[in-house]
Amino acid sequence: ALERTLSIIKPDAVAKNVIGEIYSRFEKAGLKVVAAKMKHLSKQEAEGFYAVHRERPFFAALVEFMISGPVMVQVLEGEGAMLKNRELMGATNPKDAAPGTIRADFADSIDANAVHGSDSLENAAIEIAYFFPATDVYAR
Ligand code: CMP
Repeated sequence: ALERTLSIIKPDAVAKNVIGEIYSRFEKAGLKVVAAKMKHLSKQEAEGFYAVHRERPFFAALVEFMISGPVMVQVLEGEGAMLKNRELMGATNPKDAAPGTIRADFADSIDANAVHGSDSLENAAIEIAYFFPATDVYAR
């Protein structure tokens, strides 16, 4: 089915100047960028976005990392977009990520892991709404 998912290019990958290389992977896989913005998240915004992880031991480090520099936030649209994006990203820990995935090629650690992608369609809807009003998402 035609789906939408939320993607974030994290501060490490923005700092490495690989936004275009990552967008190119989305496009080659048939995913369209239908909304996008660069944003330096506030602590409150990062905590709210990752609220489901609030009780996890890595929460504070995750939030500090996500506010360490600007990120690129985008909505990807395409057939099976949620899972397709997760395949392109590879495993959360770059040590476990398959060769040729975004995390294998650009990530340094489980914290600085280059990209975020929604892990379910339900979370995709929540995460998209967190960053983009419906009028800023351009079906095409
Ligand atoms: P992300 O997909 O953005 O969702 C939560 C993030 O927490 C994850 O990517 C990792 O960057 C980070 N993280 C740090 N430690 C862990 C861990 N042990 N398990 C899962 N995620 C972790």
